[in-house]
Amino acid sequence: MHHIGEHHSIIPVIQNLGLMNQCLIHQSLNLGLLYEAKQLQRLDDDLAWLLQKAAGFNFISAIADGKTLLVGEGNLSFALSIAKKKRINPAKLVASTYEAKSNLSEAAASNASHLRMLGATVLHGVDATKLSHALGSWRFDNIAFQFPHVGSREPEEGRNPNFILIRDFLKSAYQQLKPGGQVLISAVDSPHYQGAFQFEEAGELAGFKPPVSYPFEPSDYPGYNHTMTNDNEGALNSHDEFRTWIFKR
Ligand SMILES: C[S@@+](CC[C@H](N)C(=O)[O-])C[C@H]1O[C@@H](n2cnc3c(N)ncnc32)[C@H](O)[C@@H]1O
Repeated sequence: MHHIGEHHSIIPVIQNLGLMNQCLIHQSLNLGLLYEAKQLQRLDDDLAWLLQKAAGFNFISAIADGKTLLVGEGNLSFALSIAKKKRINPAKLVASTYEAKSNLSEAAASNASHLRMLGATVLHGVDATKLSHALGSWRFDNIAFQFPHVGSREPEEGRNPNFILIRDFLKSAYQQLKPGGQVLISAVDSPHYQGAFQFEEAGELAGFKPPVSYPFEPSDYPGYNHTMTNDNEGALNSHDEFRTWIFKR
C-alpha cells in the first residue's frame, strides 16, 4: 500500500500551499472577512496534518529502539502485528491486557500464544493506572496505550472517566519509564475524543512536557483488529483520522 509518507517530494508542495494559505488568511483578516479566515484556518490545519504524514512519523520507528510495554491491548492484535515487524525485536516487547487470563476472548488467547512463540512477554490483568502492581521496578523506554477507553460514561471526580484513565495512566507510566523514555497514546483525531481525553492537561498533571502528536495509520498494521468497548462502537471503524500523542518527561 502506498502512503503519502513514501513520497517525500510532496513535502515542499504542501509547505508552499501552507505559505500561500497563510497569506490568504492575513489578507482575509485585513479585509475583515472573518468567516473566510476561519475556513482558511481549517485548511491550514489540514495542510499541517498532511505535512506531518508526509514527513513520515511512524510508530514503529518511534519504538524500534529499546524496551516497549503495551497496555490495554484488548485482543492483542496490535501487539502481534508489531511483533512481526522487521525492525521490532519481540524479546523487547511486553504486551498486556487489562482482562484477566480467564476472561480473554478466543482471539486474544490465540494472539497471546502467538506472541509468546515469537519471544514476546504477555501479561494479563494489568491495570494501566497501577502499573507498578504488575511490573514492580521494571522500566521501559516506550509505554504505549492504543485507543484507551473505559467503556463507561459515568463521570469520575466530576470529569469524563476517560480523562481520569489517561491522567492516572500517565502518572503511573511516568514511574515506569527509563530516563529519556516516552509514552505513546493513539486515539481518534476528533474534537469529541480530544475533549474527552484532554491530553495536555492530563500530561501536565502527570509531570510530562506538552505532548506532540502525529497521524497514526492503522492500515500500516496488518491483522490489527481494534477491540471495542461498550460505548465507543469501534472507533477505528467509524473514523478515518487518528493520531498518536507522544509524552516525554
Ligand atoms: C477501545 S479498546 C482498545 C483495545 C486495544 N488497545 C486496541 O487498540 O484494539 C480499550 C481498551 O482499554 C482497556 N482498558 C480500560 N481500562 C483500562 C485500565 N485501567 N488499564 C488497562 N486497560 C484498560 C480495555 O480493556 C480495552 O481493551
